[in-house]
Parts: sequence; C-alpha cells; structure tokens
Amino acid sequence: MRQSGPPADEERPDEALLPEDAAVDLAAERNSAGLDETIESLDRELIGLHEVKTRVREMAALLLVDRMRQRFGVSSSRPNLHMCFTGNPGTGKTTVALRMAELLHRVGYLDRGHLVSVTRDDLVGQYVGHTAPKTKEVLKRAMGGVLFIDEAYYLYRAENERDYGQEAIEILLQVMENQRDDLVVILAGYTDRMEEFFRCNPGMSSRIAHHIEFGDYELDELIAIARLMSDGEGYRLSGEAAEALRERLRGQMVQPRFANARSVRNALERARLRHASRLLECAGRCGVAELTRLEPPDFSP
Ligand SMILES: Nc1ncnc2c1ncn2[C@@H]1O[C@H](COP(=O)(O)OP(=O)(O)OP(=O)(O)O)[C@@H](O)[C@H]1O
Ligand SMILES: [Mg+2]
Repeated sequence: MRQSGPPADEERPDEALLPEDAAVDLAAERNSAGLDETIESLDRELIGLHEVKTRVREMAALLLVDRMRQRFGVSSSRPNLHMCFTGNPGTGKTTVALRMAELLHRVGYLDRGHLVSVTRDDLVGQYVGHTAPKTKEVLKRAMGGVLFIDEAYYLYRAENERDYGQEAIEILLQVMENQRDDLVVILAGYTDRMEEFFRCNPGMSSRIAHHIEFGDYELDELIAIARLMSDGEGYRLSGEAAEALRERLRGQMVQPRFANARSVRNALERARLRHASRLLECAGRCGVAELTRLEPPDFSP
C-alpha cells in the first residue's frame, strides 16, 4: 500500500450565508480554490489525454458551483464522485488519480486530499476473519482522501464463491454509499476486465458515477512525453535522437507488453546509461552540452 499527497492541513473556514441579492465573484472563487493553477499544471504536465482533462474540468466546475450555491444556502445532494479509470498500462491512470485527489481537496470536497493506493492483497486476508479488519484499516487510512484500487477486478473471483474478496467488496460498497463525504474511491484497470467485473458486481457498478477511459498514446504524443520527461531530468533530445526514439517506439508500440508512457520512461532510463558510458569511453573534454544531450546511439536497440 502506498500513500502520497498532502497531509491534513487547513480547515475550511465557516462562512456566513450570503443574502439572496448578493453575487459571488467567479474569478475570485476559482482563484481562491487554486483551481486554475491545478488545471493548468495538469494541462502542462500531461501530454494529450484531452477527454480525461475535459472530464476533470467538468467535475471541478461542478464542485466549485456547488460550493458557491452552498454560500447562498441552496442545498443539493453531494455529488457522487466515485470513479473508474480504465486503460492500458502506462496511460496515466495513477498520475491523474493523484491530481484528482489534490483537486478535490482544493475545492473543499475532501479534507485531506491524500491518495492511498492499494491492490487486492492490501484488502483481502488469507483466512476467516482476516479480511474485514484489513479492509477497514485501509479505509481508515484513506478517509478524507482518495482510495485508489488498482486492478480492482482481482477483488472478485468468479470461480470461487467463498473467496474473501467478496467480503472486501461488501465493506467497500457500504462505505462508498454511507461515507461519500469522507472518501472518494477510484477503481482502475484494463477496460475489458473492468467491464466484466462490473457485470458480475452490479452493486459496485451502480455506485460508480464516472467512468473515464484512458486511450493509448499516439506516436507523436509519446515523443512529446519523452521531451517533457527529459526536460524534467535535465536532458535534451537532439533532433536525430528523437527520430531514433520514434523508430524504436514505433516497433515497440505494436508489441503486447508495450506500456505507453512507462515504456517511454524506461527507454529514457536506458538512454541515460548509454549516454554516460558513451561519454566516458570518448574520454575527451566534456561540457554541459555533451552532458545533457542524448544522441541516436543512446536509443539504438
Ligand atoms: N500524458 C502524460 N504526459 C506525461 N507523462 C505521462 C503521461 N501519462 C503518463 N505519464 C508518465 O508515465 C508514467 C506512467 O504513468 P502512470 O503510472 O500514471 O500510468 P498507469 O496508467 O497508472 O499505469 P499502470 O496501469 O501500469 O498502473 C508516469 O511516470 C507518468 O508520470
Ligand atoms: Mg497505475
């Protein structure tokens, strides 16, 4: 189990209700929630993912408007924000979940905005009576933030009716229904397997309001991701190096174990090793240009 994100911090101030003829300043509201900043950094730091970004923006808008309505005392039910992120490996699901946790905290929906990332083994025990305390402990840790369940379909084993996973699912369902104010659950996994999971667990399906699909990246997007990642690490891709990487990725993309942006990260890690060895081998003088520039041989197979 991993936990990340901001620790518990500032309380939301209790605001007095506004009179009916008052007006709120939209720009100031967005600003005070730091919403534009969060959305801009999402735009800047994540390549592509247009539909995902649109969905995130829509949710942020809803929450902000809800918050303003509350200032006038207009009540509405708290929106259901449990989500499911589907897509292939390395398409950005975990990364977006982290951003989502931060955003939900900023608009005041979640008290803490941390993310607890778990898989089946963190929730399900090995023997009778083991699962409930395990699941409850995880839920306790996730309260006030996001519980991210990766490869959620492993919770359900169709072949075994008495599988302890079922017990974990029941507890999750209860909390998702009754403690919506304190916890957002995001399930993640491959599209087809998640669909099968929802078919077998209609209770879970009906509690998830937002299904967000993460598509595979196009080649151009993968190269843009590579540029972004290398910039962040203080490397530059020469034009020829980008071309060599493009050729490499073109071959890898069609293979079954290709992992989108993660494969790009791995290619860059390997390139850093090659680059370092290449520099030491040539044993000449070496300036910052050489130290930062990745070249085609660094990306050869
Ligand atoms: N659109 C993007 N732009 C830039 N970097 C990205 C993008 N998508 C993913 N990454 C980077 O790629 C890596 C893998 O992403 P992430 O772990 O979010 O994928 P995932 O969908 O959760 O994968 P898995 O299903 O294998 O858990 C991370 O280092 C992330 O920062
Ligand atoms: Mg992930």
